[in-house]
Amino acid sequence: MEAFDIGIIGGGPAGYTTALYYAKQGKTVVLFEKDYVGGTCLNKGCIPTKAFLHIADLYSELKDADKLGVNFENLNIDFDKIKEYKNNVIIKLRKGLELTLKNAGVKVVYCCAEMVTKNKIKTETDEYTCSEIIIATGSKPKEIKGLEYDHKFILSSDDILEIEKLPKNILIIGSGAIGIEWTRILSSFGVEVTIAELADRLCPLADWEVSKRIERQFKMKKIKTYLSASVSEITDKKVTLSDGTILEPECILVAVGREVNKYNNNINAKIIGDASSEIMLAHYAVSQAKELALNIPFNKNIIPSVIYGTPEIAWVGEVSKSKEDDEKYDKSMLLISALGKAHCDNKTDGFIKILAKDGHIKGASIISPEASALIQQITIAISNDLSINDLKKVCFAHPTYSEGIMEGIMAL
Ligand code: NAI
Repeated sequence: MEAFDIGIIGGGPAGYTTALYYAKQGKTVVLFEKDYVGGTCLNKGCIPTKAFLHIADLYSELKDADKLGVNFENLNIDFDKIKEYKNNVIIKLRKGLELTLKNAGVKVVYCCAEMVTKNKIKTETDEYTCSEIIIATGSKPKEIKGLEYDHKFILSSDDILEIEKLPKNILIIGSGAIGIEWTRILSSFGVEVTIAELADRLCPLADWEVSKRIERQFKMKKIKTYLSASVSEITDKKVTLSDGTILEPECILVAVGREVNKYNNNINAKIIGDASSEIMLAHYAVSQAKELALNIPFNKNIIPSVIYGTPEIAWVGEVSKSKEDDEKYDKSMLLISALGKAHCDNKTDGFIKILAKDGHIKGASIISPEASALIQQITIAISNDLSINDLKKVCFAHPTYSEGIMEGIMAL
């Protein structure tokens, strides 16, 4: 029986980051993974969708490039090649991660593992003794009654990554991060997208003005949205929505959240990542790993959210649910069209909304190119309790989208 300081079950961002941080401290670490290291994020989530989004954005931009004096004839897409690109991105990153783990001295065991006692992990063939055991077994697409995945007509977010050809049209159930990102990818590729969202606005976790702006952008792209809607019945590929509307999509993508992979934890192990049933985001998992292995705490209320595509959408801290909710704050609203850089880039749609109280930023919502990077500035400010007066002293480079943050701060 091999002995280790740390045993980790699950090789996604939570598991592998914890493994690397512990290994760096000189601890002996064994990591069990039944599939591929990198977990959902690298193999079935963040990375492949962002690879698809990159091509979708490139294609959309080139389609409109004639207005900027760049002409393309016979612009078209080769979906097999796009998928090959996506697969190569995954393989390249996975190989890099495998090498990083190897160089760090982490022993990776590719098989299903089970924690049998506080200090023992069992696989089909071996047993391992570990001073400490961590569970990071992740999550899977949530399945709901009436919309059980058949992986052909009713697809999960795993299935959609592997479709052989683009459908003519698709019904997407749910408008959270997955619903919005796939709407953007598929509609850019010319697929006719319809969304059914249970809440009364798109992307209901976001600020109300973000929802309104996405609704407007989707309307302009002729994406049909049904709000306060769910699926009541499916017969012979005919989908009846709760308001009686009947749709006949070529396929359905169900994106109504994720659920924890069931894990028998009667031993009371430390659980991190999606499996902890906290926030299901790779960067949250990485922060949990830092906290666990390096004792670096983080503020669990200040976790940035990003939805990718054009333009990026991001928020952090408090969000306003309605116009009335806005009244509770000192608010600044900067339109991206006010920025010189936005005009140079021909990307003027969006805004930076900052909510403040008592001289401190409480939250921000951004729709803009580079929103994923811009939100980090606000995240750093809130996490370190920097006052608006402190932030006013910062010099922001020109011409940038960051200037929008500066203008927003100066307006408070
Ligand atoms: P989500 O929880 O973000 O959104 C699910 C949406 O489905 C909600 O708007 C909800 O109101 C709606 N919904 C629920 N039941 C419904 C029903 N029966 N009919 C119609 N609509 C219904 O979950 P999502 O988008 O599936 O993402 C799963 C997880 O993955 C989340 O934690 C998300 O944050 C994460 N993720 C993060 C990304 C990023 O950081 N860019 C990208 C993709 C996913």
